[in-house]
Amino acid sequence: MTDTTSSQPAKAWSGRFTEPVSDLVKRYTASVFFDQRMARQDIRGSLAHAKMLARQGIIAAQDLADIERGMTQILGEIERGEFAWNLDDEDVHLNIEKRLTALVGDAGKRLHTGRSRNDQVATDIRLWLRDAIDQILALIGDFQKNLLDVAEANAATAMPGFTHLQVAQPVTFGHHLMAYFEMSRRDAERFADCRKRVNRLPLGSAALAGTSYPIDREFVAQELGFDEVCYNSLDAVSDRDFAIEFCAASALLMTHLSRFSEELILWMSPRVGFIDLADRFCTGSSIMPQKKNPDVPELVRGKTGRVNGSLIALLTLMKGQPLAYNKDNQEDKEPLFDTADTVIDTLRIYADMITGIRVKADAMRDALKQGYATATDLADYLVKNGLPFRDAHEAVALAVRAADVKGCDLPQFSLDELRAAMVHVPGAAERVKDDVFGVLTVEGSLASRKHIGGTAPEQVRAAIARARTQG
Ligand code: ARG
Repeated sequence: MTDTTSSQPAKAWSGRFTEPVSDLVKRYTASVFFDQRMARQDIRGSLAHAKMLARQGIIAAQDLADIERGMTQILGEIERGEFAWNLDDEDVHLNIEKRLTALVGDAGKRLHTGRSRNDQVATDIRLWLRDAIDQILALIGDFQKNLLDVAEANAATAMPGFTHLQVAQPVTFGHHLMAYFEMSRRDAERFADCRKRVNRLPLGSAALAGTSYPIDREFVAQELGFDEVCYNSLDAVSDRDFAIEFCAASALLMTHLSRFSEELILWMSPRVGFIDLADRFCTGSSIMPQKKNPDVPELVRGKTGRVNGSLIALLTLMKGQPLAYNKDNQEDKEPLFDTADTVIDTLRIYADMITGIRVKADAMRDALKQGYATATDLADYLVKNGLPFRDAHEAVALAVRAADVKGCDLPQFSLDELRAAMVHVPGAAERVKDDVFGVLTVEGSLASRKHIGGTAPEQVRAAIARARTQG
C-alpha cells in the first residue's frame, strides 16, 4: 500500500483498475463472512511479523509500538462484537489492516512490508487448525475416558459377537466397546501426526518467490510456536496438504463414530433391545406417541457424509491447480471449518452419550441362547481331545443340525444326545465326555479366550488398565 493521497481507492489493490467490480462479483469473491473466524490468528501472525520487521530494522520501533497499540484495540473490538466487518474489504486480512491504518496511520500501512496475503492466509489457517487439533485431541481424551468407564463396568457382561450380523461367538460388552477405544487411539495418533505438518511456518514466502527484505523467518516461527519453517516459498503458499490430511483424519474418526452409532441404533431397536439410550439423546415422533428415536446417533451417521464430502471437496480443489497460489484456495476454509466444527461437536456429544447407555444384560444373554454361540468351543474341545479340526468342525455341524431339529441350544442336549448327533463322524462321539458342558457355557467360552486381545473378562480388564496408563 503506497497510496497516501486524499483520493484513496476503496480497495487495497484497486489503483490499476478503471472500473469497480459489480456487487455480485464483490460478494462472489469475498471471504470475510467466513474467514473472520481467523481474526485472532491473523492478528497474532501480524504482530509476530511486525516484531520481526522492527528487529531487522525494516520498520521503526515506533511503527511496531503503533501496530501493537492498534491491534490491541482491534482485538478488543472483535471480542466485544463491535468490529465492523465490511464486504468491501474482501477478507479478514484486509479488514483488519484497513482498521489498523485508520487507527494508527502510516505504521498500519507498513505492516504488509515483505508479506503477501498468500503467505498470510496460509499462516492463519495453520494457526487456526493447530488450535482445532489440540481441542480435538483433548476431546478424544474425554471420549476415551468415559468409554473406558463403561467398558470396565461391563468387562464381564456377556453378549453375542456377530459376523455377517449372525450370532458368532460370545464376547463381553466391555470387549466390544474396547474395539472402539482402539479406533479412537488410532484417530488420536493421526491427528497428532497431522499436527506436525500443520505446525510449519509459510510466512516469509510472500506472494510466491520470497521477499527482498532481510527477514528472519526462524524468529517468526519461534514467536508463533511453529516447529520449523516451510522450506520452499512456492510450495508454502500453495500447499494445503495439511488441511486435506486433517479432513482425512476427521473422515476416519467420523467413520468410526458412524459405525458405533449404527450399533447403538441397532441395539436400541426393540427387536434387539440390548441397550437403552438416555432420553436426552433421543426425540419423539410428532405422530406416533410411543416412539423414542435415537436421533443423535442417526445424525452422527448422517454428518459423516458431510465430512467425507469436505475431504473430497479439498482434494478436488487442489488437483488442477498450477503453482503457486490461486484464488481457488479461498474455497478451502468452509469445508475445513465445517469439518472441525462437526468433529468437535460430535466428540462432545458422544463423550456424554456413552455415559447414558443403559445396558440390558439379560437381553444380551438371552440373545446368546439363539445361534449356537458356543459351537466353536465344542469343536475346539474335540480337537483338544485328539480329533483333527476339520472332523471336529463337521461333527459340531451335525450337532447343530440336530439341535435345530430339536429346537434347543447345544448345552441343553444330554450327553447321549450329543454323542448320537455326531455318530457319523468317526472318532467324534467317544471323545465327548461329561466335562463337555463346561466348555458349552458362555462363561467357559469367554474365560478360555485369555490371551492378549481376547475377550476373557480378565483380558478386557487388562486392556482397560493398559489404556488408562498409555492413553
Ligand atoms: N482471502 C484469500 C484466501 O482466502 C486471501 C489471499 C488472497 N490473495 C490474493 N492474491 N488474492 O485465500
